[in-house]
Amino acid sequence: MSVKRQSEMASPVDQQNKKKKQVRVWVDGCFDMVHFGHANAIRQAKQMGDYLIVGVHSDEEVAKHKGPPVFTDKERYEMVRAIKWVDEVVEDAPYVTTLETLDKYNCDFCVHGDDITTTADGTDTYHLVKKAGKYKECKRTEGVSTTDLVGRMLLLTRSHHQIEDKEMDKQSVGAIGQLVGSGRSSLMSNRQAPSASSPWTGVSQFLATSKKIIQFSEGKEPKQGDRIVYVAGAFDCFHLGHLEFLKKAHKEGDFLIVGLHTDVVVNRYKGSNYPIMNLNERLLSVLACRYVSEVVIGAPYAVTADLMDHFKVDIVIHGMTPIQPDEDGSDAYAEPKKRDKFKTVNSGTDLTTHTMLERIIAHRLQYEARNKKKEAKEAKIFQAMKEKEVYEVE
Ligand code: CTP
Ligand code: C5P
Repeated sequence: MSVKRQSEMASPVDQQNKKKKQVRVWVDGCFDMVHFGHANAIRQAKQMGDYLIVGVHSDEEVAKHKGPPVFTDKERYEMVRAIKWVDEVVEDAPYVTTLETLDKYNCDFCVHGDDITTTADGTDTYHLVKKAGKYKECKRTEGVSTTDLVGRMLLLTRSHHQIEDKEMDKQSVGAIGQLVGSGRSSLMSNRQAPSASSPWTGVSQFLATSKKIIQFSEGKEPKQGDRIVYVAGAFDCFHLGHLEFLKKAHKEGDFLIVGLHTDVVVNRYKGSNYPIMNLNERLLSVLACRYVSEVVIGAPYAVTADLMDHFKVDIVIHGMTPIQPDEDGSDAYAEPKKRDKFKTVNSGTDLTTHTMLERIIAHRLQYEARNKKKEAKEAKIFQAMKEKEVYEVE
């Protein structure tokens, strides 16, 4: 038995101080169609302290200040809870962050991306915490926003795929009319000529780097005796169906590996302009999920003997969605079935990337109006900021 000397032991006062020193960070937002830009803000906020509380606004608050969200608050709460850097979620958080809110949850400061968020009447939602010196900024992730994802869905483009396929892209843009009817023009022009007036909302391209992948990764190896679970899929526009599925799959073992299919493979079996998010983007969304231990980037569609042996897979799991045959018509799960290592689980939700797309299309006009309003508000604020800069330099 090892005995600690008095000098090595923390006194009750030291322990108390240590407890007090825990830095508690507050982040809030709408987190609609939660994407890796949101996850990256949450990751950076967690790095600024020890304990991270995320306040998520209710549907009523979002509708009042921004426009109706695509996901319900119950869905958004669950999605944020599953992000691995989140310690606690506060439901129905107020849109304007007050000092009372920070005090109530014992938070030292609030973190937000380096863009501007305003209430319906144009007030900075963080003016109170900024004034009190309890506001810190993290870097907003360029090239991903709900606006952009909605644009990709409505326009049926494939330029976000990691393949050179311009001819097919032209054809799919030609087919837009069939899906979105006459309301496409403003989104179309938005995509072709991104607004220069607001530097935050709008369309730009996300570029993944090895640094970002490392920041999102667990970097853990399975431990001796761990039961290894393998699942594979597109995991496009990571949604509640994926989350509930991964939660169930995670319960089947100790170390969950997700095989992500390439854009070409996903496009072969899902058709149209799927995947909406390219492999790099899908990778970050899956890595941000607390149930995932490791990801195979560009996994083969068929779960082969090589793959199972290499990763020492104990069980392969699939949800209730139909499994498409491999390119040669064979069963992609023949190997795990032969080894009696295949199981299906029921995620309990029938939400898919396609039903999400349908939801968005149904809200298309409200969406366009909401984004136009958001960009116009941001442009005004940006202009005022620029004018102030010029004035101060002079
Ligand atoms: N955020 C970010 N990078 C992005 C999108 C959002 O860092 N690409 C950050 C925001 O700055 C904020 C948090 O994520 O700190 C929550 O954002 P949210 O309230 O959901 O709103 P938006 O910034 O409007 O996100 P989006 O345009 O994607 O709807
Ligand atoms: O469709 P996709 O390839 O993204 O699905 C990945 C995995 O998530 C599959 O195993 C699928 O069956 C599962 N899933 C689910 N419930 C949903 C959506 C997907 O179990 N609502």
